[in-house]
Amino acid sequence: MSKFDATVIGSGPGGYVAAIRCAQLGMKTAIIERYPTLGGTCLNVGCIPSKALLDSSEHYHNALKHFGKHGIETDGLSLNWPSMLARKDEVVSQTCTGVEYLMKKNEIEVFHGNGAFLSSQSIQITRDDGTQIQIESEKVIIATGSKPSSIPGVEIDKQRIITSTEALKLKEVPKSLLVIGGGIIGLELGSVYSRLGSEVQVVEYLDCLIPSMDGSLSKEMLRTLKKQGIKFFLSHAVQEVKSSQNKVLISALNKKEEKVEFEADYCLVAVGRHPYTEGLNLEAAGLKVDERGRVPVDENLQTTVQGIYAIGDVVKGAMLAHKAEEEGVFVAETMAGEKPHMNYRNIPSVLYTWPEAAGVGYTEEELISEERDYKSGSFPFRALGRARAAMETDGLVKILADPVTDEILGIHMMGARVADLIAEAVVALEFRASTEDLARISHAHPTFAEAVKEAALDATAKRPLHL
Ligand code: FAD
Ligand code: NAI
Repeated sequence: MSKFDATVIGSGPGGYVAAIRCAQLGMKTAIIERYPTLGGTCLNVGCIPSKALLDSSEHYHNALKHFGKHGIETDGLSLNWPSMLARKDEVVSQTCTGVEYLMKKNEIEVFHGNGAFLSSQSIQITRDDGTQIQIESEKVIIATGSKPSSIPGVEIDKQRIITSTEALKLKEVPKSLLVIGGGIIGLELGSVYSRLGSEVQVVEYLDCLIPSMDGSLSKEMLRTLKKQGIKFFLSHAVQEVKSSQNKVLISALNKKEEKVEFEADYCLVAVGRHPYTEGLNLEAAGLKVDERGRVPVDENLQTTVQGIYAIGDVVKGAMLAHKAEEEGVFVAETMAGEKPHMNYRNIPSVLYTWPEAAGVGYTEEELISEERDYKSGSFPFRALGRARAAMETDGLVKILADPVTDEILGIHMMGARVADLIAEAVVALEFRASTEDLARISHAHPTFAEAVKEAALDATAKRPLHL
């Protein structure tokens, strides 16, 4: 029987990164993945395919709506949906193959099949053809990720009532799409189809969009996406979704408890995801999940059983690929006796609509609920030369800081390229910069990054230069 120092169950961004770091630290490492391709949700049905379709649909939308203003004629422009899907599949395939290469390069043994505990150090792997093998491992990392959730009254049939997985490979661009949930998936995939010509309606239970982000981004995003043609129904609780022939009928209750009905070609259910531990046989290792289905872990991400760790979407915290990756590195280094550190507060969050939204650190709502004093500064994109040159004037940067020490507490932004601009904000928070530090750093002109400097000038002493 094969024996390993470390075995990772699940090859998503948490799992494969943990395996690489274990191998780099000299551990004999194995990784188990139940699907034929490596990379987990992120590479196969999450981050990568959704961004591929977001990028393609954005090109189409720009060609259709904005190229004319740049003096570029696009007569005869048409959409080739099968080609768009094929490019997305090619990107996914190349990325997954890249992970296979990384496993080989780091001499990590890959097992395909379902991994299930026989005991805390023994795992049975069941392949698709039913054959089984058993391996032993001194340490085990559970990185089995998450699956889409639904709500009572909504049965996902994967044909008309779908999750993000099906939405990434629909055979046609729907004439109409109803999205349940105005969170990250709802807005990203809603944007894809809206840009391609679908009539998109978003039904959200709360009175705001993207509730995990700063409230000012939520308001600005609502305004901007409405302008792009997406219809929003906030404070609506979906009661039931039924599919009949080629249509889906949705009923919801509005704030006044009145019944509101919707009809669409497809209904995308995007109401969150839940941790996935089915088939792991956790009991055999002496483990139990908590009331929300997560594997409980301590501050070292070790479970209640010594030598078994858990990371990524299957444990508490934001369900983000880069959070899972950081945890993978953290656990490998902890197992190797090092003393790594993770600052959960400084994990950025990004929404890849256009314009994009991104944030890191405290939101204004969190500071208010903690009754913490703060000052703020902001700067609108419309006052940036670069934004006008690019015709990308929607958006802003907002900085929250301690009024006494000037230390930055949170940075939130919406606008073109903020998914990349947020990296500067993360560095500032990680190094505990003050708003004055950021305000005094030279930012290249003309760039969108100048909005960060100007927002810092506004926060430090209400002295923006270009407003
Ligand atoms: P996963 O990526 O879910 O991987 C878990 C793996 O474990 C899977 O491959 C699964 O097959 C395998 N597995 C499960 N049980 C077993 C078993 N018993 N034996 C063997 N293998 C098993 N996050 C971002 O940060 N940025 C984004 O842009 C982004 N976009 C997203 C878009 C969509 C549409 C979705 C759905 C998610 C997106 N996410 C994004 C979230 C991101 O995909 C997850 O946070 C991330 O994949 C979690 O990584 P993980 O390693 O914990 O688990
Ligand atoms: P989410 O938590 O972002 O949003 C779910 C939304 O559904 C919330 O706004 C919630 O209020 C709403 N909702 C819940 N019940 C409802 C009901 N009965 N009726 C109407 N609305 C209801 O979850 P989402 O969008 O499904 O994404 C899942 C996870 O995947 C997220 O945690 C996110 O972090 C991750 N993800 C990250 C991305 C990124 O980093 N860009 C992209 C896509 C997903």
